[in-house]
Amino acid sequence: MTVRHFLSLPDLSPDEIRQVLNRAIEMKREFASGVTMDILRHRTAVLVFEKSSTRTRMSFESGITHLGGNAIFLAPTDSHLGRGEPVADTARVLSRMASLIILRTGSHSRVEEMARYSSVPVINGLSDYNHPCQLLADMQTWIERRGDIGGRRVAWIGDGNNVCHSWMNAARLLGFSLVIATPAGYEPDPDLSALCAQSISFTNDPREAVAGADLVVTDTWASMGQEEEKARRQADFDGFCVDESMMALADRDALFMHCLPAYRGMEVTAEVLEGPRSVVWDEAENRLHAQKALMEFLLSQ
Ligand code: CP
Ligand code: NVA
Repeated sequence: MTVRHFLSLPDLSPDEIRQVLNRAIEMKREFASGVTMDILRHRTAVLVFEKSSTRTRMSFESGITHLGGNAIFLAPTDSHLGRGEPVADTARVLSRMASLIILRTGSHSRVEEMARYSSVPVINGLSDYNHPCQLLADMQTWIERRGDIGGRRVAWIGDGNNVCHSWMNAARLLGFSLVIATPAGYEPDPDLSALCAQSISFTNDPREAVAGADLVVTDTWASMGQEEEKARRQADFDGFCVDESMMALADRDALFMHCLPAYRGMEVTAEVLEGPRSVVWDEAENRLHAQKALMEFLLSQ
């Protein structure tokens, strides 16, 4: 049996991503009509979270319950990981007891190390490098609203951060163009930028990026772990708030996405976040369905 991990979007082929997304849409419908599942029956999945979470924790714990399994949440304060036990040792212990490991952490190298030493699938629930589960939910949300994303134009406004990196991978794998507008000095990872060069372009002007876009996406200016940079970042990101005047430059049918949590008046106004183009609550809900489909996929390999 092959162990398949999901540390980054390219861990799935484009066809596998589409398969998971189609299944997520189907599972959403089935769940609403009361269909129950037992692919995790009598089995445990462990969530190891070294950073805060509302959506990722809730969607995985609920999803594991929906699949008939039991979720155990380990925080650094109540496990030995927080007292310096190596990730490699933790991986070997956890994977002898659990059928899946979901890890949210700072350094992406910890996710890679967990996968290297785990004998069960490891899912990246966010690292400083990327957030691939978010993109599965976002792609599901787009498909539900607008169909295939191939050939569309997406504008990323703000920090070239972990979520931006996953959008870059999605653009490359699913064939849409991503225009990334960041202030100077906040560009995404150069190696990933080189890999995705055919699908992405850059500007320091958010209005240029949004012009004619089918979808406008943003995220917080200060990610978890960057709290001390907040004041400097607020100054550096002046002009990058997605407001109604910016959305007016996008295509008339354009949607707005944000992975949440959102900071109203910073990266997005309350009007845009709560407005008719915003699909942020669907994105949040779809974390549940997309990750259930992902877990089913990984467990069936
Ligand atoms: N979007 C997202 O991952 O949210 P949480 O940090 O609440 O899990
Ligand atoms: N970029 C944000 C995403 C939160 C879901 C962070 O890493 O804090």
